[in-house]
Amino acid sequence: AKGWMTEHLVHYQGVWLTPKAALKGLMWIQDHFKPRPTDILLATFPKTGTTWLKALIFATVNRTHYGFSDHPLLTTGPHDCFPFLDAYVYENDRSFHDLEKFPSPRLLSTHIPFTLLQTSMTDDQSCRFVYICRDPKDVLVSKWLFMNKLRPKRLPPISLEEAFELFCQGISHYGPYWDHVLGYWKASLENPEKILFLKYEDLKKEPFAVVKRLGEFTGHPFSPEEESRGVVQEIVKLCSFENLSNLEVNKTSVQKFSRDIVVDNRHFFRKGKVGDGKNYLTAEMIERLNAITSEKLHDSGLVFGN
Ligand code: A3P
Repeated sequence: AKGWMTEHLVHYQGVWLTPKAALKGLMWIQDHFKPRPTDILLATFPKTGTTWLKALIFATVNRTHYGFSDHPLLTTGPHDCFPFLDAYVYENDRSFHDLEKFPSPRLLSTHIPFTLLQTSMTDDQSCRFVYICRDPKDVLVSKWLFMNKLRPKRLPPISLEEAFELFCQGISHYGPYWDHVLGYWKASLENPEKILFLKYEDLKKEPFAVVKRLGEFTGHPFSPEEESRGVVQEIVKLCSFENLSNLEVNKTSVQKFSRDIVVDNRHFFRKGKVGDGKNYLTAEMIERLNAITSEKLHDSGLVFGN
C-alpha cells in the first residue's frame, strides 16, 4: 500500500495488517490464546469508540469493587485498565503466562476481524464479544487526524484526499472497514448471546440504555436498587468524553502498546461527537462514501445515517 500512513501494511487473507504488530499478534492469538467462557473481548475497528467502551465495560463489570470518588479510571487510562490482547501478545517483555494468570473475568480488547479468529474463539461457548461500530465518515476523519498526530515529524502530513482514497479502497489498519463491521454483525445475528453489537451513535444517544445492556450481557445486570441509586448514571458520567478527556492521566501519560508503538493518551480524545466527519469531507466525498456503505451493507440489515 502507498504512502507512509499505510505503506507498511500487508494484505493477509483479505485484511490489511501491520506485519510487525497486528500480524504477529494474530499469529500468536491463533496458536496460543486460550479463551475462557468468562472472558469479555472488546472488538473494534480503530477509531470507532474503543477507549470509551473500555472505560464503560471496566466500570460496569468492576462496579462493586470501587467507589466513584477514588475510581481507578480517575488515575489510570482506559487502555491500561483494559489491555489490548493483540499488543499484549506481541510485546516482548510481557509473557503468555501473565495472560494465563489474569483473574476471571478477563477484559481484553482486539482489532482483529472476527473472520480471522480461530474456532476456539468463535465457537459458541468459548468467550464473549462486545463490538462497536461507527459511521464510516466519522471513522475515516478520526483516523486521518489521529494518524497525522502520530506521524514521524520528518514527514509531511497526509492529505485528506489521500486518506479518503485509501479508506474507500479498504486500505486501512484491519480494513476494509465494511468487512470488519459485517464479520461481527453477521456473527452477532447468528449468536446474540455471544456477541453484543453496538453503534457509537446509539451509545451517544442513549448511554443509559446501552450501559444497562452491557451490564446484562457481561453477567453483571444492574439491580433495581442500583438503578434507584443512580449507579448507571454515575458510570456514564465517569466515562463521558468531558470527564475522561480532562483527567490529568489522560492528558499527560503515554500508552505503550509495544516497544515501537507509543502513543500519547490525549490523542485518544479528540472531539467525541457524532457527525464531525461531515465538517471535513466534501459533498462528493460524502456521497461516494455513503454509496460504498449502502452497497456493501445493502442486504445486511445494518444501516448508518447519511
Ligand atoms: P473523534 O476523533 O471523532 O473525536 P478509539 O478509542 O477507537 O481510538 O476511538 C477514538 C474516538 O473516540 C475519537 O473520536 C475520540 O474522541 C472518541 N472518544 C474517546 N473517548 C470518548 C468518550 N468517552 N466518549 C465519546 N467519544 C470518545
